[in-house]
Amino acid sequence: MKITVLGAAGGIGQALSLLLKMKLPAGFKLALYDVAPVAPGIAVDLSHIPTDVAVKGFTGDDLPKALEASNVVVICAGIARKPGMHRADLFKFNAGVTRDLISAGAAICPNACFCIITNPVNSMVPIAAEVLKKAGVYNPQKLFGVTMLDVIRAETFVANFLGRAAGTIRVNVIGGHSGKTILPVMSQVGGFEFTDEEAAALVRHIQDAGTEVVDAKAGNGSATLAMAAAGYRFINAVVRGLMEEENVIECAYVEGGSQHSRFFSQPMRLGKEGWYKVLPYGPLTQAEKDSLDLMLPTLRDEIRMGEDFVLKPE
Ligand code: LMR
Repeated sequence: MKITVLGAAGGIGQALSLLLKMKLPAGFKLALYDVAPVAPGIAVDLSHIPTDVAVKGFTGDDLPKALEASNVVVICAGIARKPGMHRADLFKFNAGVTRDLISAGAAICPNACFCIITNPVNSMVPIAAEVLKKAGVYNPQKLFGVTMLDVIRAETFVANFLGRAAGTIRVNVIGGHSGKTILPVMSQVGGFEFTDEEAAALVRHIQDAGTEVVDAKAGNGSATLAMAAAGYRFINAVVRGLMEEENVIECAYVEGGSQHSRFFSQPMRLGKEGWYKVLPYGPLTQAEKDSLDLMLPTLRDEIRMGEDFVLKPE
């Protein structure tokens, strides 16, 4: 199986490529592409790590070579937020980057699973969907917005709050990946009932966590390492599904027939053809229903921005 990382020289791309090189099963191939000419060098660097994952780096006009025969394409190219910016402020630059990379993927490896990390995810996934549709190769079950960072943050903050061991709590996060569109379903965390105040404080922390990192990095980027860890967990789940492991379940932002919006993040089962069944996330409390109602206009607007970028270019 071959995994291609597009944007491999960036903060997320390098850390994610390291995790993939270290942890993918023996025999896998890893292709690293970046417009930055250091990408082949990063591949040489990684190739000295003793695992049976073959790494090759590409730059410039070699994007088709990086994509050739790829089973999973991860897009983490583009620019990151600086303090004071919202994820939506990245749209102008990152929309064109995502469109161009997905167009190449549509031409070279149309049957791959496409995993989008580039922000604003809420709008980049609709762009990818419309580009793939235009090319006549859109398979909604193979297009994912990676919202796993919200899940790992939720799981970390909740475990810390409860004094439980890290990694022992599962939290579904539904909606999208920006501000109020991030909705952790606290009412369904097993074995504990939060008060309204406790749930609200944890939700606020999870929603603001990206901004917390942007502010802490003080103009030098946004989350890269936790994002890479989250990206690895998600890509690994996609790969396990493709390899026909049963019962692989994670949350992702997909066109899955949600009653709420065209694209919606929710838990789903992954299989040999991508995701194949979106799963219920349990009954919401009144406060969670209110939060969902409140976020939907924003989420739908961000989806429309992505669709319009491809369907109604200026
Ligand atoms: C995050 O949640 O950390 C990422 O989406 C990056 C950002 O701009 O917040």
